[in-house]
Amino acid sequence: MRHKTVYRCNECGADAPKWMGWCPACEASGSLVEEVLLPAGTSIAPSVPIPIAEAIGDATEPVPTGDPELDRVLGGGLVPGSVTVVGGEPGVGKSTLLLQALASVARGATCLYVTAEESARQVALRAERLGVSAPSLWLVAETSLPRIVAHLDALAPAVVVVDSIQTVFDPDLGTAPGTVGQVRGCAQRLVGEAKARGVSVVLVGHVTKDGSLAGPRVLEHLVDTVLAFEGDRHHALRMLRAVKHRFGSTHELGLFEMGEAGLVGVPDPSALFLADRQPGVPGSVVAPVLDGWRPLLVEVQALVVPSTAPTPRRTAQGLDGGRLAQVLAVLERHAGLDVGRAEVHVAVTGGVRVGEPGADLAVALAVASSATGRPVPADLVMCGEVGLGGELRQVQRTERRLSEAARLGFRRALVPRSAPDAPAGLRLDRATSIGEALRHLAFFAQPVAS
Ligand code: TYD
Ligand code: MG
Repeated sequence: MRHKTVYRCNECGADAPKWMGWCPACEASGSLVEEVLLPAGTSIAPSVPIPIAEAIGDATEPVPTGDPELDRVLGGGLVPGSVTVVGGEPGVGKSTLLLQALASVARGATCLYVTAEESARQVALRAERLGVSAPSLWLVAETSLPRIVAHLDALAPAVVVVDSIQTVFDPDLGTAPGTVGQVRGCAQRLVGEAKARGVSVVLVGHVTKDGSLAGPRVLEHLVDTVLAFEGDRHHALRMLRAVKHRFGSTHELGLFEMGEAGLVGVPDPSALFLADRQPGVPGSVVAPVLDGWRPLLVEVQALVVPSTAPTPRRTAQGLDGGRLAQVLAVLERHAGLDVGRAEVHVAVTGGVRVGEPGADLAVALAVASSATGRPVPADLVMCGEVGLGGELRQVQRTERRLSEAARLGFRRALVPRSAPDAPAGLRLDRATSIGEALRHLAFFAQPVAS
């Protein structure tokens, strides 16, 4: 029998009737791959309506994995019968994270680690190096989906990790390994197994440079939870976030450090980020920023040096370059601080990326501090958005941020006028504009000598 074929985009999963040089849906270039369509309707189980009250009664509680940072992001743990994808770039530590977590779960339940990428020996060596082992942690090197399902039959694990979804293969699907059809088909099949057996399925998914799950973004729609595991190649810090979470918030942040003994949770990130700070150095400002709901105290550093170049350099590390340019423009226009003839480098230390405007004020004052050579008091933090009119605006969850600062022993905070009252132990200095903020610190805004 001749099967019908379609051309399916490896990026977005859209179908096209004929081959084209680019995807008609997402316009990715050269992403269409021929796939054979299976006869429709063969494998779909009949649905049975149930009273909603019954379904509510069925909702199961998350089961802790025993890894505090992972459990924080999951909102308690893995929900039985759920499917979770852990996405991240190759080498970020997905296999390490899941092997450690699975070993932890395996203290109380049968767990299966399916390695479809590395050999069983490689995984076992890693487990040995990490010092994780449990009698009920099972390991199998397998890429064939039907055989993985057979192992689920035999072992009946509570949790199964499949590392990775891109390397498992279902011969019944009639498409080539590695195609979006395979990834989607295998994930679909595993979703079915999870629901039918109540096993928690965790899939590793490789992510491409632009942040999409390699090939199938469609995976995100199939599963209950998508976690993104990220980190800077040059730093030990790793961040785990929920991008999608059917059972809870997507605002929690998990933090780990990758070291000799694998991934270690970071329960007190602010203390870590500020550990190497040198107080009293011009250009250094501490800011409580938010990542999701988790307040983090980070050090914002600026270095302003005279330049004779026609276009002096500007670098921004850990924050958006456009945001820096905007803050510099406001400093010039509304505070009379002209750094147009100077090189300006701004960095958030520790490998953190600040993606919210709460650090604007700290960036502005770090630049001003470096430009004028006046250090900012060591016990001062600041947070606020700098508007284009030079006004300071309150940022969300200012209270949480200030409490974190107070907890770490900071005594003063510079905030926009509308900010809420200070937590105990913290004195607030309020400013309405960027100019006032600079005066507050007795900065005599002056152009950089060049
Ligand atoms: P890995 O978990 O294999 O990443 P992924 O599955 O996301 O591709 O780990 C990747 C890196 O982590 C690897 O380059 C080595 C490093 N690593 C450590 O630094 N310490 C350790 O204890 C382990 C297991 C790995
Ligand atoms: Mg891996």
